[in-house]
Amino acid sequence: MTESPTEGIIVKIVIIGGTGLIGSKVAQRLTAKGHEVVAASPNTGVNTLTGEGVAEALAGASVVIDVSNSPSFADADVLAFFETSTRNLLAAEQAAGVGHHVAVSIVGSTLLPDSGYMRAKVAQEQLVAAGEVPFSIVHSTQFFEFAKSIADGATDGDTVRIPTARFRPIASDDVADAVAAVALGEPLNGGVDIAGPEEFRFDEFIALALAARGDARTVVGDPEASYFGTKLADGELVPADVTAARLGSVTFEAWQAAQSAAPTH
Ligand SMILES: NC(=O)c1ccc[n+]([C@@H]2O[C@H](COP(=O)([O-])OP(=O)(O)OC[C@H]3O[C@@H](n4cnc5c(N)ncnc54)[C@H](OP(=O)(O)O)[C@@H]3O)[C@@H](O)[C@H]2O)c1
Repeated sequence: MTESPTEGIIVKIVIIGGTGLIGSKVAQRLTAKGHEVVAASPNTGVNTLTGEGVAEALAGASVVIDVSNSPSFADADVLAFFETSTRNLLAAEQAAGVGHHVAVSIVGSTLLPDSGYMRAKVAQEQLVAAGEVPFSIVHSTQFFEFAKSIADGATDGDTVRIPTARFRPIASDDVADAVAAVALGEPLNGGVDIAGPEEFRFDEFIALALAARGDARTVVGDPEASYFGTKLADGELVPADVTAARLGSVTFEAWQAAQSAAPTH
């Protein structure tokens, strides 16, 4: 990680999607370091699709972190979301003189063009890279929190059909640590891969995650199974070079124990 240019300096940091899973955790970390943090989202009056409240939120900001997500994952909706919101945001950042745009994308995004969601994330990455604002892209593997959604998307009756490829999921706390650190560093004008500390087989991890939730569905490992509209070759969802990736420290077992201990809302 490059040395922080913000060490000892309080800066204004706007988090687009700051009310979401990753955004709220990044906001906690940066606020704890004393920075002026704006958690921006439609719920706080900032909408990057319509532009509402964006210029006002960005006034005086040094860094913008985009951890927003599309409310609809339909192919056309998600592409329209990331293209329009990224264009609007980058234009507003340029006007406001923002010095660092941080986006969160997905490890392997460019390898899976049959997935509409991955195509939308690649479109977001390309806009960010082609823009005028210095940037960093954090490519993350799948969050532990995403396991049930993956299973739901692959369920037929009581059977969940999951590819057998390697899988290295990560805790959202580890993602938030990495995103906060990147946001306080020099723009990479490139990307960094982050991943969890342990490698699983994808189907075995989903079986473990469902069992830990007391979910009785049967997971079947199938190399031909589709993952959100795409076939997976082994290695496409894990960092190409794990030694160059930033690895989180939270194991699935520790994460699951913390979930079980946490009060339910
Ligand atoms: N899930 C995974 O395993 C995974 C893996 C790698 C990367 N990622 C990426 O991680 C990022 C964050 O995901 P997450 O799970 O933390 O998302 P999330 O919990 O679903 O939060 C989404 C956020 O986006 C905001 N948002 C929605 N529409 C918006 C708009 N028009 N303008 C501004 N903000 C808007 C929401 O605001 P409101 O609360 O006001 O609706 C919310 O704060 C996403 O970009 C995703 O692609 C996810």
